[in-house]
Amino acid sequence: MDAQLPAAAPISVGLPASVSEYTQVWPQPQPAPVRGRPPIKRIAVLTSGGDAPGMNAAIRSVVRTGVERDWLVFGVKHGYAGLIADDMAILGRRDVGGIIGQGGTMLGSARSAEFRAEAGRRQALDVLAGRGIDALVVIGGNGSQSGANALAELGFPVVGVASTIDNDLFGSEVTIGVDTAMNIALEAIDRLKTTASSHHRAFLIEVMGRDCGYLALMSAIAGGAEAVAIPEIETDPEAISEKLRTAYARGKPHALVVVAEGAKYNAERLAAYFAENRERLGFDLRTTILGHVQRGGAPTAADRLLATRLGAAATEQLARGETGVLVGLSKNEIVATPLADVAGKRKPLDVSLVALAEVLEK
Ligand code: F6P
Repeated sequence: MDAQLPAAAPISVGLPASVSEYTQVWPQPQPAPVRGRPPIKRIAVLTSGGDAPGMNAAIRSVVRTGVERDWLVFGVKHGYAGLIADDMAILGRRDVGGIIGQGGTMLGSARSAEFRAEAGRRQALDVLAGRGIDALVVIGGNGSQSGANALAELGFPVVGVASTIDNDLFGSEVTIGVDTAMNIALEAIDRLKTTASSHHRAFLIEVMGRDCGYLALMSAIAGGAEAVAIPEIETDPEAISEKLRTAYARGKPHALVVVAEGAKYNAERLAAYFAENRERLGFDLRTTILGHVQRGGAPTAADRLLATRLGAAATEQLARGETGVLVGLSKNEIVATPLADVAGKRKPLDVSLVALAEVLEK
């Protein structure tokens, strides 16, 4: 395996401020071949796990910056499952035309049980060797990057690109898809607040995020919700009902709670609790579960740019021979973190923001 980078080492890829600046910095000079390693000629790129808005922009960036380096770029269909099945095609610049604004992933994505077994991973390596592919770019979240690390541990050059709407990936402050998912949640919150105000009703909205409360907490703060429930902090349903009740008492025209799908009291359990205690609590709670709506639709400008930067950073890492890393964002700089540090970990949520949410929600 390649030498590991120190955690969070800044590298130089950034989006230039203007087109003229862009033409000055791109194409970049080809780096000198790493001693002992033949120069890269062929790479493959795949998207894996839950799709995220911006994955297409990342694919486009990997393909076009790879082709710029005179590499042959293979697009692998349906994640690791497609890799094992040798389901891939060569992608040129035009093949990724027009996708930057499209949600989903043109390559398709999957969660592959076969790849979790060593036999599946060995099969994937055989496929890569059979195609003469020198390196792989994996665009995805936690499970996908653990898979990337498993290949790196078997000695194959891999670079991961941080992409998940959950924003729970260690090695990147923000991941591809988060901004779009958050804006979709916000739009839903804003819409619910208008109808809540008309009818003086209480609403519950559940957002995705698996076991991470990032999307719920941030959309509650940005949407001006009256309460929030996240997996990281156990929330008493009585406390939530009190917040909703006192919102009206304070003269608010609406009362809305944002719930993370992974919270102990998720939409189903909280709605059941309110239904059981309807008489005592004194009001109904209307429920909206946002679900996969958050993963669909066009990526925002922020996600297109992040994905473009990270895709370009991935090919730069490969060109330098610095693989076995995840490229992500820290303090608006691109950073590379060893996949071994990323795999099996989860980025903790900054729960200090819960205190801020509690001040603002009053
Ligand atoms: O990891 C992204 C995510 O959308 C989570 O927020 C959610 O829990 C999960 O994927 C849903 O997975 P699936 O699309 O397989 O139902």
